[in-house]
Amino acid sequence: MYLWLLCAVALVTTSKAYPLLYDDWTAQDLKDYFLQRANDQSRPVLDPNFNIGGDELGQVSAVDVDSDGHVYVFHRADRPWTMSTYKANSDILTDEAKTPIGKDTILKVDPKSGQKIESFGKDIFNVPHGLTIDHKDNIWVTDVGRHQVLRIPKGATKPDLELGEKFVSGDDDKHFCKPTDVAVASNGDFFVADGYCNNRVLKFSSTGKLLSQWGAQEGNNGMTPYTLNIPHSLTLIEELDLICVADRENSRALCYNAGLHSAQTPSQAQFNRTLIPQSEIGRVFAIAYNKAAQEVVAAGVVSEAPIIENDSILYPPRAFTYDLEGRLVTSWAFITQEMAELGPSLIHDLCVSKNGQDFYLADLDQQRVYKYTTNWEAVLGGA
Ligand SMILES: *[C@@H]1O[C@H](CO)[C@@H](O)[C@H](O)[C@H]1NC(C)=O
Ligand SMILES: *[C@@H]1O[C@H](CO)[C@@H](O)[C@H](O)[C@H]1NC(C)=O
Repeated sequence: MYLWLLCAVALVTTSKAYPLLYDDWTAQDLKDYFLQRANDQSRPVLDPNFNIGGDELGQVSAVDVDSDGHVYVFHRADRPWTMSTYKANSDILTDEAKTPIGKDTILKVDPKSGQKIESFGKDIFNVPHGLTIDHKDNIWVTDVGRHQVLRIPKGATKPDLELGEKFVSGDDDKHFCKPTDVAVASNGDFFVADGYCNNRVLKFSSTGKLLSQWGAQEGNNGMTPYTLNIPHSLTLIEELDLICVADRENSRALCYNAGLHSAQTPSQAQFNRTLIPQSEIGRVFAIAYNKAAQEVVAAGVVSEAPIIENDSILYPPRAFTYDLEGRLVTSWAFITQEMAELGPSLIHDLCVSKNGQDFYLADLDQQRVYKYTTNWEAVLGGA
């Protein structure tokens, strides 16, 4: 294990050995690393031509792109998730929180400028969480207040499908408890990460029939590939028949056989590989497969605070690129001083454009979406 980790780090750093965990890095480490990477064309850079945030959005929980490249943002408008969202020590919403958010919660924007194209989703959602756009441009969302997964068909503004029972949490075949994310395969089968309480992943057929489920809270036998602690984000690697799970509080991401290529689905998916080794990038909030590049991008929380030394303030990276063998390729989205001045930053979700060059990062706390790109020409040449 130790040797293996060393290899992963050696790949990233040719000249200098950096501590394995970012939390152990000094300001100098961060500075050296940043400069070394500054000319690395594989590292996405911030695209200042893309701007959404400010008054338009509340807490931004999710982001995805449709087949035309438009960016969809799921946010909580004027209703942040706070200590008074749920009744004390329960998963049940308080009476105030049971009134749906009266403002639009889904925003569709132009992928270059971030300019609004349309918005919808008012009077439906209570606590927006995940948003996933499938191959047919249907929008799947999870609401951790409703304890449901909902589907909004392409072109529509209201759901045509609800899974789970509204406001009622549970751990059986008909209930979820604060489900976090959905992943939809091209054959229509879909996976639900369920979520903050049940720590399981469920697989459904395209008609909504439960096919399999796996995952459990860590028991006396300790952490295994089948124990999860807040599965928070899902991504499919269909070519390898893998469903990958960001196991947030265990600070890792794991992949399982998705069973899309086999005639029969086993009741529990087989663990296949570790995509993000434990504690390399802190808690893993989100993962997204970059098919064009055959890589996975991830949002991690390596350090809560900036490092301040002398006159310089250095911020840790918020996003990471991994190859499919679980090796860190590059770190990026170093929070800039300008962004830091907006307040605490938490990348809650991220997604990749179809050409694999553009990345959209949903910052929950700053209530913004940032665009990063490896298309440096577009940034330098303007919009
Ligand atoms: C900060 O200042 C001290 C003393 O001048 C110096 O030794 C150190 O290298 C500086 N650190 C950085 C990161 O520049
Ligand atoms: C993991 O998945 C790959 C790609 O589908 C497959 O070739 C390999 O046999 C799997 N390994 C295990 C241990 O399941």
